Amino acid sequence: METTYTGKTALVTGASSGIGRATAIAFAQAGASVAVADWDEAGARETVRLIADNGGKAIAIKVDVSDPAQVDAMVAQTVKAFGRLDAACNNAGIGGALALTADYPIDEWDKVIAINLRGVFLCMRAEMPHLLQQGGAIVNVASILGTVGFANASAYTAAKHGVVGLTKVAALEYSAKGVRVNAICPAFIETPMLEKAGLLGDPVAKQGLVAVHPIGRLGTSDEIASTIVWMASPAAGFVTGAAVLADGGYCAQ
Ligand code: NAI
Repeated sequence: METTYTGKTALVTGASSGIGRATAIAFAQAGASVAVADWDEAGARETVRLIADNGGKAIAIKVDVSDPAQVDAMVAQTVKAFGRLDAACNNAGIGGALALTADYPIDEWDKVIAINLRGVFLCMRAEMPHLLQQGGAIVNVASILGTVGFANASAYTAAKHGVVGLTKVAALEYSAKGVRVNAICPAFIETPMLEKAGLLGDPVAKQGLVAVHPIGRLGTSDEIASTIVWMASPAAGFVTGAAVLADGGYCAQ
């Protein structure tokens, strides 16, 4: 069956878990061959297995997105395996420590910026020459914290605002050349990132999070994945330079 991404290739970073895994699976369901990249190699292989079990095509790539040589190698491996790159979702990220700005640990600041901001820049830099060959799209995974602030999350909020800015600049530079560049800004999504932060196990903490979403619940990885796959597709052909909220109404308040 011919689908939106038949004959096309998608690359997803941070695809061993949460939003990234769901996005890799959604691209495969839409017909793409998928490069599943993550520094958690076992998790990446598990995502590939989930795709292959449903008849899809995917490869696992081990990468630290904050390392330029590894990012270049990731893109080279993708193009070597599938011959082209049509869609890239730069999703890998970490939450980082929570602390008041004046108390924020400097090493933690550097780590969050290196992965969440520098990583997105390095990925875009390596992906762009291949996307320009036949046209394509980038979707960077930012956050509602790319548009509003959040106390105790200075590094994460600064990095995500940076991703939104970087997205706008690249859209200005490359949209007329056939590559659309957008950012998605999810609110709180039920993923291992929130579990690790202890926000899902504690019913009181979880209810507190639910309460700040006008829709009355947290989001799911599948809801973010389907929005990303749409943003990267020709169906969103006039959408570029946008920070697309997928936030259950969080930023409407
Ligand atoms: P997650 O923790 O489930 O998945 C993140 C993935 O990124 C993991 O597989 C991890 O191994 C990988 N990763 C982390 N650092 C890496 C590095 N240096 N190189 C390669 N891979 C690396 O988290 P989740 O929730 O799926 O987050 C995905 C993205 O969505 C992140 O950028 C996050 O900031 C963003 N986001 C998440 C929200 C949420 O509520 N879960 C809300 C808004 C944005």
